[in-house]
Amino acid sequence: SSIPVLTIDGPSGSGKGTISRLVSQQLGWHYLDSGALYRAVGVAAGWADLDLADPAALVRCAFDTRVGFRDDPSGELRVLVNDIDATDELRTETAGAAASAIAAIPEVRSALKDRQRAFRQAPGLVADGRDMGTVIFPDAPFKVFLTASAEERAERRYKQLKDKGVSVNLDGLLREILARDARDASRAVAPLRPADDAVRIDTTGLGIDAVVERVLQLVTP
Ligand code: C5P
Repeated sequence: SSIPVLTIDGPSGSGKGTISRLVSQQLGWHYLDSGALYRAVGVAAGWADLDLADPAALVRCAFDTRVGFRDDPSGELRVLVNDIDATDELRTETAGAAASAIAAIPEVRSALKDRQRAFRQAPGLVADGRDMGTVIFPDAPFKVFLTASAEERAERRYKQLKDKGVSVNLDGLLREILARDARDASRAVAPLRPADDAVRIDTTGLGIDAVVERVLQLVTP
């Protein structure tokens, strides 16, 4: 395809979501939050009371779950799961853990492949996830891998949750983040790793604007 894609991969809390969304707005490109697809399937599996140890049921769920994205008036991205606004539920660590569990099933990943590729539409796409540059859009002309220290990622998540009035424990968050990283990096299929041709950006100690600028420079030098 000649439609350009900018892939932004990295671990949870690396700032992928915020950066990808801002960059897509600046470029006027479409935006794919692939993590939201995995979270949506995880949450839908929970709603249906499916057994996380029953791969066949989860694969069916991946095919059947409808996921819709829409911008609300304040510019926030809302996610509809089977036509229900599940934006807040999708952000919880429970949804993240469910996503990470179902994301380790190869057939669930292939079930979501075409859906992700369909986001590649003119004038361009910013795709955020774990395997955007390695598996879903290997031919993307622009690839970024964002990292940050686990401590900084836990602190960012802590602030986000605190701002929303959710009371959390920093050490607990750090442990959850490290556990999810380990699972995402060690799984047999599409493990979290930078594409060979990805530009790595360590965002530890960097502000959002600085990261956005560096990423934009890759696309429009
Ligand atoms: O990016 P986010 O934290 O929303 O992703 C939730 C989980 O979904 C990740 O921990 C990962 O296990 C899975 N995921 C994935 N591949 C992607 C995006 C997310 O395996 N492209």
